[in-house]
Amino acid sequence: MIQPDESVRVPAAFERMLWRHRGEPGMLIPLLQAAQDSYGFVPESAIGQISDITGIPTAEICGVITFYKQFRTKPLGKHIIRLCKGTACHVVGAETIGQVISDELVVAPDETTGDGVFTYMVVACLGCCSLAPALMIDDQTHGRLTPQSVRKLLRQYRRDADKAAEAAGGERPATA
Ligand code: FES
Repeated sequence: MIQPDESVRVPAAFERMLWRHRGEPGMLIPLLQAAQDSYGFVPESAIGQISDITGIPTAEICGVITFYKQFRTKPLGKHIIRLCKGTACHVVGAETIGQVISDELVVAPDETTGDGVFTYMVVACLGCCSLAPALMIDDQTHGRLTPQSVRKLLRQYRRDADKAAEAAGGERPATA
């Protein structure tokens, strides 16, 4: 059984859900959603706690997490990149843009860079097809992308993240 990490404080909303649904195996999905809403992902400690209160083995819970794409077991990066692979973007080079992102950040879709700055996701239409190929970084849309403009954009975000880390007095881990 996975033991909860005592050093990690359990968010109040998740703790309330655990108490409310103690012993209810049918509540697995809502409990996983509550954990993800509270932590931003489903940590091992939460899996252990859910297992304890529902009686569902951790291996089974991990299987459910793997099955549903909505659940993450690792934290998201500081910036979320959503590259559109919808039809309009696809026909004007979204594939190439995706390759540039992977090369520049050394990351595959659905992964987070080793320094925790970017999480890269591939999504369906962003609703701004006239700007194809397009992506979003957090809530900012960037369109009519070229390999050069994407590289420039990512480097700008990384420089800003470096500056913010420096200003906060912390050191960023080496890039993956
Ligand atoms: S297909 Fe990419 S924004 Fe619509």
